[in-house]
Amino acid sequence: MLRFETAGESHGECLVATLTGLPAGVPVSIAAIDRELWRRQQGFGRGGRMKIETDHAHIVSGIRHSHTIGSPIAILIENKDWKNWTEALPVEDIDGAEDHKKPVTRPRPGHADLAGAIKYNFHDARYILERASARETAGRVAVGALAKAFLVEFGIGVLSHVIAVGEAKLERPATWEELVALSQRDEVLLGCVDAEAEQRMKAVVDQAYKTGDTVGGVFEVVARGVPPGLGSHIAWDTRLDGRLAQAIVSMQAVKGVEVGYAAEGAAAFGSKVQDTIHYSREKHEFTRGANRAGGLEGGMTNGQEVLVRGMLKPISTLRRPLESVDLETRDAALAAYERSDIAVVPAAGVIGEAMVALVLASAMIEKFGGDSLAETRRNYQGYLEQVKNF
Ligand SMILES: Cc1cc2nc3c(=O)[nH]c(=O)nc-3n(C[C@H](O)[C@H](O)[C@H](O)COP(=O)(O)O)c2cc1C
Repeated sequence: MLRFETAGESHGECLVATLTGLPAGVPVSIAAIDRELWRRQQGFGRGGRMKIETDHAHIVSGIRHSHTIGSPIAILIENKDWKNWTEALPVEDIDGAEDHKKPVTRPRPGHADLAGAIKYNFHDARYILERASARETAGRVAVGALAKAFLVEFGIGVLSHVIAVGEAKLERPATWEELVALSQRDEVLLGCVDAEAEQRMKAVVDQAYKTGDTVGGVFEVVARGVPPGLGSHIAWDTRLDGRLAQAIVSMQAVKGVEVGYAAEGAAAFGSKVQDTIHYSREKHEFTRGANRAGGLEGGMTNGQEVLVRGMLKPISTLRRPLESVDLETRDAALAAYERSDIAVVPAAGVIGEAMVALVLASAMIEKFGGDSLAETRRNYQGYLEQVKNF
């Protein structure tokens, strides 16, 4: 079983991520992890915080001589902004701490502030937003990069792109080659493969900037090279579509998930939706008429590309704040504002990749086992042989 956990607050000293269960012998490059962390920080519409941080994975256990050794992997990611918060959020209380606090008493509609303050019994939402913040996802992306390094050993790639920002949509499918080129760009605008659609998306973010508003959108994650048979139909919690959905909706601000062309399918007749089955006698393999199912049938991968989309609501911190109530006085007040992102869809795509990679790596390890990469590979190849001779 592959397990990961993250700890850390937005303005704490650092983020911590642990990953347990990767076999020994997986090659790991810190530069590759840092590249994923960099990709998470990009996109037109990010706030000032991303200009302060240059994320770097500081690995403290589980990797030696650039390979996993089978023990739990622990990664630290420093928060450069911490130096501005040592008095506001000290670990041990200090004299006069009250004067340095940066309380948030006017909860932002849509953020975790009010629900968290009530639940944890604070009349200040500071401790809540510190952890609810998507800064946490730097930890997910770091361990997701390790899951990707494992998957690459089996020829599996996981990439993403942005298919909508507000009402501006990409109106055509993207090819895998376009996604590869997108992931290699050193300047990221809105993570869309089509320059014209990307400009329309930019215009929406520009409008949000001008009006003190925010905007959401949709990203798509594509996993290529996935073998048939990951996940299982036998129980609710072994179905891979359900596990992917949970992984995607667990992301901050993601409120909807789509496997394959789910929304289109729900509005069409079955004859137009199901992917017809064919057989190539020369290649001894089954082929499909299309991939509207997003590579998943019966909670199992079917050998086609896995397609999962995440729908992000607009960011809830608005420069022109919405109505709220002061937690202390209970008087009507405008919601708190602090430096914030305007649009984060490309970054969410990168986080989505990490989540999909972690779920797929976990399903691979469950199916093929192995304490070392060589053992996992042997088991995997035996299975591929079985599939070939089916
Ligand atoms: C990459 C990313 C960056 C985010 N940045 C911000 C931000 O700057 N300000 C903000 O209010 N919310 C931001 N959010 C969203 C909040 O973290 C999220 O809305 C909040 O934790 C409440 O959770 P919920 O929206 O899932 O209900 C971001 C989300 C993502 C995925």
